[in-house]
Amino acid sequence: MESDIGVIGLGVMGTSLARNIESRGYRVSVFNRPHSGKEDKIGAFKSKFGKSNFFATDNLEKFVQSLSKPRKILLMVKAGAPVDEVIGELVPMLSKSDIIIDGGNSDFQDTQRRLKLLEEKGLLYVGMGISGGEKGALNGPSIMASGSARAWEEIGKIFLAIAARADDGAPCCLWTGPEGSGHFVKTVHNAIEYGDMQLIGEAYFILKKCAGLDNGEISDIFDEWNRGKLGGYLLEITSKILSAKAPDGEYIVDKILDCASQKGTGKFALKTAVDENVPFGLIAQAVFARFASARLQEREKAAKLYPDSPAANPRAEISPSDIEDALYASKIMSYAQGFALMRSVSIRRKWNLDLAAVARVWRNGSIIRSVFLDRIARAYESDTELENMIFDDYFADAMRGGIERLRKAASLAMARGCPVPCMAAALSAFDSMRTLNSSAALIQAQRDYFGAHTYERIDSPRGEFFHTDWASLEAEKTEE
Ligand code: 6PG
Repeated sequence: MESDIGVIGLGVMGTSLARNIESRGYRVSVFNRPHSGKEDKIGAFKSKFGKSNFFATDNLEKFVQSLSKPRKILLMVKAGAPVDEVIGELVPMLSKSDIIIDGGNSDFQDTQRRLKLLEEKGLLYVGMGISGGEKGALNGPSIMASGSARAWEEIGKIFLAIAARADDGAPCCLWTGPEGSGHFVKTVHNAIEYGDMQLIGEAYFILKKCAGLDNGEISDIFDEWNRGKLGGYLLEITSKILSAKAPDGEYIVDKILDCASQKGTGKFALKTAVDENVPFGLIAQAVFARFASARLQEREKAAKLYPDSPAANPRAEISPSDIEDALYASKIMSYAQGFALMRSVSIRRKWNLDLAAVARVWRNGSIIRSVFLDRIARAYESDTELENMIFDDYFADAMRGGIERLRKAASLAMARGCPVPCMAAALSAFDSMRTLNSSAALIQAQRDYFGAHTYERIDSPRGEFFHTDWASLEAEKTEE
């Protein structure tokens, strides 16, 4: 019997997705390379799920032959060179109009290149961002796909069937449009995930270091916040993490080495923001904070050289509700940067991304699922041309209501020597946006002074450029 779809790569995500698809009534072929002795993934898969509607093999040719035409092959392999390698092996075995889907966290630029290459060969290609981790993949992930539009007619129903459902019943599965837009949207999702995680970490650190609370107390506070405007998966799991204890009665989180890893999607987003000239400071700080945390030796050296000065009053004048509002205001700035990046790339590449639909597709299944996303969807539904989230009435009110508390939380943390790079970046991003007559005038003067780069004037139309002969002004002054 032929299979409806094939999955290559039986890692955690590949296995869970294959099982999810099979559970919806599809026959699924799975392939994993034979492993040199260590781990027989195909053997393990067969013994666990052999009775279900699967065909499992470590022979790529047999895998390809087992699929009904047009063949639909979902790659769940490590992003980067492994994707190219598998594609290279598959192509000679495929026929016109067969479909390859890359479900990993690929750089969207790689997806664009692969799409072009495969379409030239008469094959169809889809770049598919899949969020939700192991459980999401098994029970319902959030899916963002793009590439060969013709392919979606063949595969769309499968992925709509396996995706999570939002509260209103809508499937969290979106065809984002052309080229690598699906992987790009997933990249921004992950960048926002980095921002959310770092901001929650900073709120935790302020509650711990400045307000003097312990993990159990902070867990309860997060649990309470999770029932309100900050409600979402990452806050929910953080509350659970903070209350978890090891058999010795100690908190597990206190035993974890503070070196954060990353697999690269934060960097992809950052590079894109730099290419697009889009301010992205908050998320950049979230990425850099992970780099900084990983440099343990350097931190140990600096900690010895610059020890903490004893805090005068560990229970400072800051309440959990101050920090809740500070976190909310920072979160708005973080998402505002992520959505501004998507808007900019979408306009430049003519992708016509529906930003309300993007917010909606993350409402369930995804790692950043939260009540907040409904608000964003509403903002972009009521104004599809919205330049920046903070111009929306709801978010403007929230910023006005929370900004003083963000100032208080960030400045207290900084005065106490407690690092809050993302809250500080949120504040700076907000103040940079609302400041007129800023210090950038001085930058223009400096550029003109040393390089005759010219400047525009406040009393002349935009596009008219001026140069000052700064040296002769100085000479005149000395003569006087
Ligand atoms: C998701 C996640 C996932 C990501 C991990 C780890 O949406 O399910 O974003 O795709 O790979 O969360 O990412 P880092 O190793 O970069 O933290």
